[in-house]
Amino acid sequence: MIYRGLNEMSEDKSREVSRHQGKGRSSFSGKVGYVLAVAGSAVGLGNIWRFPYLAAKYGGGIFLLVYLILMLTFGYALIVSETALGRMTKRSPVGAFQAFGGGAPFKLGGWINAVIPMLIVPYYSVIGGWVTKYLFEYMRGSTQALAEEDYFSGFIANGSSVWWFLIFSLAVTAVLFAGVKQGVERVSKVMMPLLVILAVFVAVYSMTRPGAWEGVKYFLIPNPENFSWMTVVAAMGQMFYSLSIAMGILYTYGSYIKKDVDIEKSTAQVEIFDTAIAMLAGLMIIPAVFAFSGGDPDTLKAGPSLMFITLPKVFASMGFGTGAGIMFFLLVLLAALTSAISLAESGVSTFEDQFGWSRHKATVVMGAIIVAFGALSALGFGVLDFVSLFGMTILDFFDFLTNSVMMPVAALATCFLVTRAAGLDRIAGEVMQSSAFKRRRMYNLFMKYLAPVCILIILVSSIANVLGLISL
Ligand code: TRP
Repeated sequence: MIYRGLNEMSEDKSREVSRHQGKGRSSFSGKVGYVLAVAGSAVGLGNIWRFPYLAAKYGGGIFLLVYLILMLTFGYALIVSETALGRMTKRSPVGAFQAFGGGAPFKLGGWINAVIPMLIVPYYSVIGGWVTKYLFEYMRGSTQALAEEDYFSGFIANGSSVWWFLIFSLAVTAVLFAGVKQGVERVSKVMMPLLVILAVFVAVYSMTRPGAWEGVKYFLIPNPENFSWMTVVAAMGQMFYSLSIAMGILYTYGSYIKKDVDIEKSTAQVEIFDTAIAMLAGLMIIPAVFAFSGGDPDTLKAGPSLMFITLPKVFASMGFGTGAGIMFFLLVLLAALTSAISLAESGVSTFEDQFGWSRHKATVVMGAIIVAFGALSALGFGVLDFVSLFGMTILDFFDFLTNSVMMPVAALATCFLVTRAAGLDRIAGEVMQSSAFKRRRMYNLFMKYLAPVCILIILVSSIANVLGLISL
């Protein structure tokens, strides 16, 4: 969703209201518009591609449980903070962090938030390229070939997969250049409900295959034996990623909303919606691992490739598999495109605001960043497959660096901004302009103690793990 679009939308509405209608109506549209905007940025590859593979890899039900707890506590507190700070300062992250004084450390905190989307969008576009390739292949009717065991690994190892990444990233850059972002957003909004309906069908189909029930149980019932510290690290990174928090996005969104948007309620709505879609994707993919690969532990731990390995098997076994494959990958492609566009847009506006660059220049530089880091990530499975960064492929490394290292730091910076610079009471004052703020005590407890301490522990242990100092 477009920040400026959001702004214009609420202004249009209020003008309309002063002309024709009573006050209540405008605030209602404003609120719905805001929830849709945030939900639109939240739903993307994170829900459909990333969540199921992490849940499969890091313990199934126990991952889900940890994820839900973190989302309702940390996630909630951070969304409220970022939105309130944005609305209070009317600035995007770098500006918001400087709005209260506080000097260099805060400036740095703002910048970390702003840089994260620039590092995510390149590898996000690599996955977007894979989705594009699969859509193309389904359109050619390669339904059976895609379901073969080694199809995916063969595809990514082949240098030509980089072209699919380039097609996707060119589309993203072109949309930003041509300024037709709003059109794309509109199309995607219409298609989002279709994606949900199709996902429900595929999930039901996948859950009713012989042997799939084991997968449903694995995904939904927490088993403490499957718990590891990495479950917590991965769940926290995913929570940030999926809700688009700890990367400055919600500061910007918050800076465009009016004082009548109930921050507390809209946060709850976005969390419910985002989680529902992620769980649906989990129910589509994880039971299929059990039905089609007999719950093979290697497939369960397949990581980023999981969606591309299991779903084609599901489609190949269905009556209308080719049609379902086309529909599914088309809808996912749209969700991926809108998210990638928003991520890139966030980078572009940081360049414009902080360096005073023209939109043209900012877009070119952002495009160059996407191509450079994205091509590295894509080639990491092919000609660069000898490169191993702390035991990870290049794509996994970027993903880990942003989600498990930088986002916790960004979240920590927000905690300090709230408690040390803005003050908990001022945040409460901001939130209470439109909400009862029923969870104020929980919020305060989290921002002051629990969040910073837990984030620090998780951060230090995940880095130590990667450096081989400890083994999680
Ligand atoms: N939340 C998105 C997803 O689940 C990814 C994302 C992260 C994003 N940050 C964003 C999308 C900022 C738009 C804007 O895929």
